Amino acid sequence: MSTSSNIKFHVKPGGSLTGSLRVPGDKSISHRSIMLGSLAEGVTEVTGFLEGEDSLATLNAFRRMGVEIAGPDAGKVVIHGVGKHGLKAPDAPLDLGNSGTSMRLLSGLLAGQGFEVTLSGDSSLSGRPMKRVTEPLAQIGAKIDTAEGGTAPLVIHANRSMQGMDYKLPMASAQVKSCVLLAGLYATGETCVTEPAPTRDHTERMLEGFGYAIRREGAQVCLTGGGKLSACNIDVPSDISSATFFMVGATIAEGSDVTLEHVGINPTRDGVINILRLMGAQIEVFNERTVGGEPVADIRVRSSRLKGIPIPEDQVPLAIDEFPAIFVAAACAEGETILTGAEELRVKESDRIQVMADGLNTLGIDAKATSDGIVIQGGTIQGGRVDSHGDHRIAMSFAMAALRATGDIHIDDCANVNTSFPGFTGLAGGAGLRISSSEDA
Ligand code: S3P
Repeated sequence: MSTSSNIKFHVKPGGSLTGSLRVPGDKSISHRSIMLGSLAEGVTEVTGFLEGEDSLATLNAFRRMGVEIAGPDAGKVVIHGVGKHGLKAPDAPLDLGNSGTSMRLLSGLLAGQGFEVTLSGDSSLSGRPMKRVTEPLAQIGAKIDTAEGGTAPLVIHANRSMQGMDYKLPMASAQVKSCVLLAGLYATGETCVTEPAPTRDHTERMLEGFGYAIRREGAQVCLTGGGKLSACNIDVPSDISSATFFMVGATIAEGSDVTLEHVGINPTRDGVINILRLMGAQIEVFNERTVGGEPVADIRVRSSRLKGIPIPEDQVPLAIDEFPAIFVAAACAEGETILTGAEELRVKESDRIQVMADGLNTLGIDAKATSDGIVIQGGTIQGGRVDSHGDHRIAMSFAMAALRATGDIHIDDCANVNTSFPGFTGLAGGAGLRISSSEDA
C-alpha cells in the first residue's frame, strides 16, 4: 500500500518529449482480470498486468481469499480460478490502500458470499463516498455496514439471498455500474443497470470474454445471476490514462514527437483524444486492432499550439481521469477553457477541481474552481512548489507542466504515483522530462 514517506518530484523547466514509449497496463482492466479470473473455472493467464499498488491490492485481496495467483512477473499473472463459490473468508480485513476501484467493485462481488468480510483503505479512500455502492447493494438484498457518513470500512455480511433488480444510476460511474453487475452474478433473476451517460465498459466486455452472457440495450446493461465464468487469457493494453501525461506533455512542449504504443482506445475512454484535438492538438491514432475484446492502437503526438475551449459535457465521463492533465494543457492554451458537469472530480483520490486550481494558481495561472468544474485562462506557467495531496494523477500532471514552465516545479506527496504508474520518473525522464525525485523518511 502507499508508503508513509513523502516522495517529492523536482522538475527543471523546458525540454521536449521524444521517442516511442509503452506506458504500463490499464488499471481498470488489470483489476477486473484478477476479479473475474479468480471467479472463473480454469486457469486465466494475464499479460501486460499493471504492477501498481492499486491493482496489486486487488490481487492480494484474492490471494487472501484463497485464490492461487502466480506473479506478477514482468506483467504476467497466472490465476487459478476457484469458481464463483470457491472464495474463502480472509483471516482479517482486506486493506485496499488507495484503490476506489478495488473497494467499490469488491463490495458488489463479495455481497453474495457465504462469509463476512471487511474492506478498509488508506485515509483518502476512507474519506470517499461509498453510499453510492451500499445503497444499490441494499436494494439487491446485501447487508453492509459502513462507518458514519457512509464511508469505509465496509463490513459485508454473509448473504446468499439476493434478488436481481433494475437500477438507475444517479451518476455516471463505471465503478457503481460494475459493482451492481458483479453483485448480480450472485442474485436470482436478472440484474439491470441503466446509466445516465456512457462510462467505461470493461466489466461488460470482460464478462463476455469469460463466456458470461450480457444483454446491452441503449443505456441499459443486464445479466442473469447463476451463470458461470470460464477462464480465458487476457492481454491488458497500456493505460490511456497513463498515456495522457505524455499526450499532454508532447503537445505543450515545443519540438516534441512521441509515439505511445499499444494503448487501449476503448470509445468509453477516449475523451482525452477528442478534447485535446478540439483544442488543436496533433494526435494521430494508427495501427488500430482489437486485443482480447478491447480496441488498441499506437498514438503519435507532436507539439501544437492549443486554444481554450468549452469542453463538451458529453466528453466528461469519457475523460474523467484525464482532467488534471487536460487542465495543464488548458493552462498552456490561448484563451479560456471552461469545464462544467464534472462534479465527480471532487470525489476522486483528491478533490481534483480544488487541488488543481490551487496548484495552477501557485504557478501563476488564473484558474477558478466552480462547483462542477473549472475556468482556466491560458498563460505563462511559473516555477513553484505544489502539493499533489497524495493524488497520483495530480502529481504527474504538474510534472508535465514543467515542460512549459519558466522555473523549477517541486511537487509534494508523490508516493501514490506508484498506485497507477510505477516507473513514471524513469520513463518520463528517458523521454526528455527533466525530473528527479527525493524521499523524506
Ligand atoms: C474506474 C471508474 C472511474 C475512474 C476510476 C476507475 C473503473 O471511477 O475514475 O479511476 O475502473 O471502473 P467512477 O466510477 O467513480 O467514475
